[in-house]
Formats: sequence, C-alpha cells, structure tokens
Amino acid sequence: MTSAHFLPATGLRGSVSPPPDKSISHRAALIGAMHDEPVLVRNYLDAADTNSTLAALRALGVLIQQSADGEVLLRGAGLRGIETIDETIDVGNAGTLMRLLPGWLAAQPGGTFTLDGDESIRRRPVDRIAEPLEAMGARIEASDGRFPPFTVHGARLEGIRYDMPVASAQVKSCALLAGLLADGTTTVVEPARSRDHTERMLAGAGVSVRRSGTAVEVESVDELALDALEVPSDLSSAAFLIAAGLVAPNSKLVLEEVGVNWTRAGFIRIALRMGAIIEGDFEDEPGDAVSPLEPVSDLDVVTSPLEGTVVEPDEVPLAIDELPLVALLGCFAEGETVVRGAEELRLKESDRIEKVVEGLRGLGAEIEGTPDGFVVTGTGGLRGGVIESHGDHRLAMLGAVAGLASEEGVRVIGMDASNVSYPQFLEHLGTLA
Ligand code: S3P
Repeated sequence: MTSAHFLPATGLRGSVSPPPDKSISHRAALIGAMHDEPVLVRNYLDAADTNSTLAALRALGVLIQQSADGEVLLRGAGLRGIETIDETIDVGNAGTLMRLLPGWLAAQPGGTFTLDGDESIRRRPVDRIAEPLEAMGARIEASDGRFPPFTVHGARLEGIRYDMPVASAQVKSCALLAGLLADGTTTVVEPARSRDHTERMLAGAGVSVRRSGTAVEVESVDELALDALEVPSDLSSAAFLIAAGLVAPNSKLVLEEVGVNWTRAGFIRIALRMGAIIEGDFEDEPGDAVSPLEPVSDLDVVTSPLEGTVVEPDEVPLAIDELPLVALLGCFAEGETVVRGAEELRLKESDRIEKVVEGLRGLGAEIEGTPDGFVVTGTGGLRGGVIESHGDHRLAMLGAVAGLASEEGVRVIGMDASNVSYPQFLEHLGTLA
C-alpha cells in the first residue's frame, strides 16, 4: 500500500486526455468476445479492472492480443461457444465484470463456471443478477445465497420481462446479454434510467434493441456483427480533474475528448447547477431511439464559485460514481448540499456513504451521513489532513483532489488503489499542477 501527499495547488493549468472509459472497455471486451469474427477495440483501458476482464476472457478460451498503444484484438468464441472450465474465474476488484459476464455464461447449456474476486468483491451482492438469470432458467449458487464466490450453471434460457428493484446498469446489462441467447424477447424495466452503453453497443452490433421510457427489449440473435470499436475517455475519471479545476484556485483546464453520453453526465449537470463553469458540447437527453454512438467532447473547466444543491433519487444512477465528488464540491460551496436516494453507494468498492463522510470529516468538512446519502454544509474550503482509501480507487482520488484545494494538504493512505481505473492519475495531476 502506498501513500501520497497532495499539497495545496496554486492553479491547475493545461490539457490532458483522461483514460479510456472503464464501463465501455469492459463491455467492448465482453461483447467483442461474443463475436464469431475478430473484433478490434481501440483505446481500451489498460488498468487493473479492465485487465481482469481480459484475463477472465482468456481463461474462457478467448484469444486476445493487447498492444501498448491501447489496441486489443479479440478472437472470440461466438455467442454459444463457451465450455465449462475447471479454474475459478478471478474478477479481481471488478464489479462490472462480475455482474455482466454471468449473463453470457448463464446461457451456455451444461456449462458450469465459478467466479470469485478480492476481499471487496466478496462483500458485493450477486443476488441481483441471480434473480433474473434464474427466472430465465439458469441456476446460481452463491455464498450465503448472495455473495461471491458463486457458481453459474448454464441452461437454455427463456426470455422474460424483468422489473428491476434498483436502477443498475450492471444488472440491466447482465439480463440483456443473457437475452441475446434466450428464446423470445427479453424486456428489462428500470425504476430510473441508468447508463446505456450496453444498449448502444448491441445496437451497433446489429441487435434489435428497442427502448420505451425505462424499458429496454432485445431479441435473441444468431451472431453479432461488429468489427471495430473505439472507447472514448472516461467521464468518471475526468470528473476528478473537473472537480479539481473547479475548487483549486486559479485553475483553467481542458480535458480532451471525454465521453459525454447523457446517461453518464449527471455529475456535469449537478455541477453546472451548483454554478460550475464547464464548457463542452453535451448530449441532450436521448429519446427512445437507441443510437450506437457514444458522443465525445472537450471539456473546458475554470475555478468557479459554487452553491449547494439537492441531488434527487432520479439523478442518482446518472452520477452514481461521482457522488463522492458532489460531497467534495459541497464543502467548497455556499449553503447546503444534499444527496438523497443513494443507498446503492453503500454497496460499491467500499461503503461510499460511510467512508466519504468519515474521510471528508477528517479533513475538516461539515458532513453528515444519512441512510441514503449525505448532507454537507459548505464552509468554503477544507483544512486538510489524512484520508484512507480503504482500497477504493475513487476514495483515493477524492483525497488527492481534496488535498490540491485544501489549506494544509492531504496525505492519502492507499493511493495505489487508483490503478483500478486511472493508472496515470498522479502523472496527469503532475502535468496540470
Ligand atoms: C457500472 C454501473 C454502476 C457503476 C459502476 C459501473 C457499469 O454500477 O457504479 O462503477 O459499468 O455498468 P451499478 O450498476 O451497480 O449501479
């Protein structure tokens, strides 16, 4: 475990290209591997989480060439070509891998696959994917009925209509991937919209994907038809630099070619409402037509005076990974910042309500946790101090950004956790500071 010290910055300047999108990289590898023909992925994220996906696919017999320039060539097994393997599939720290891959595995009749991961992954529930997959005809055996390690017993699946109890792009994607191989139609209904990268990628691969409000429907297919994919930069990683630019004095940054898919850009809309000056070419809320494109834009960010805001439950899935940064902005804002309906944060790489409250309070914040979010009273700044990442990449980077804008600096214990999604994070901060 490494620690790092972040001193108050006098002004962040310059431009960087944030790393490739983690969510889209996982999907590109998984969906690419479901093809009969080779698929080339450009700008694949080379980080711990997405490398776990490549390792898992290799264990399943997919041939993968990864080059230093971010290209990954997948020679997959086809939709129905996966067979039982004896070894346990190691998902590492990657919740997205753990919840998406079983959608494909569950549809391999007679196949048996066991998945496990690190200490953090063993606290993350899989009953949420077991429910739709079992309703489709597969069988899942999990520890204590809901945690990894767990075993997927594949079967011939039937399409279902599944009303999801929580908005989760991972669960939705799992059911849609299973639906590609199930008899008939598979419909997934979410209580609120979540990121739609899977739908876009499947539409690009020739699948009939129909949306109606918060319902998405796919039909089974014989094969997929992509030959290349390009991954944009990750808005969730860029969000740390956006937040740094907003709260570190005298800052002016450009973040290049960042993915601005509306279903991912909730953090930008929340920050703009708080008074943030962020310029870019943002996507409007998409209607029911499913476009295969992932829009990108340069983002210009300058230090901004902020005011508190209320984040309502419907906005939560659209900014789920950035809510710790909303808490940070709240510390620098005037008035109160409230996040409601975000109990899902307790089930992330760490309990992100408990750990954000504990971590920011240790740096001088006035913040209270609630069962489903937090309330921050802005004091215009943060003193500084020490924060622990608890092995959570987003907490490590939160601490670093807090340090740059603090009065006394911040030491982050466990900074290496940032390698899960953003291995060049320290280098990029160095470029800007
Ligand atoms: C993700 C969906 C979200 C998010 C995670 C990535 C995805 O999780 O928090 O970091 O790629 O589908 P949930 O589906 O659990 O909300």
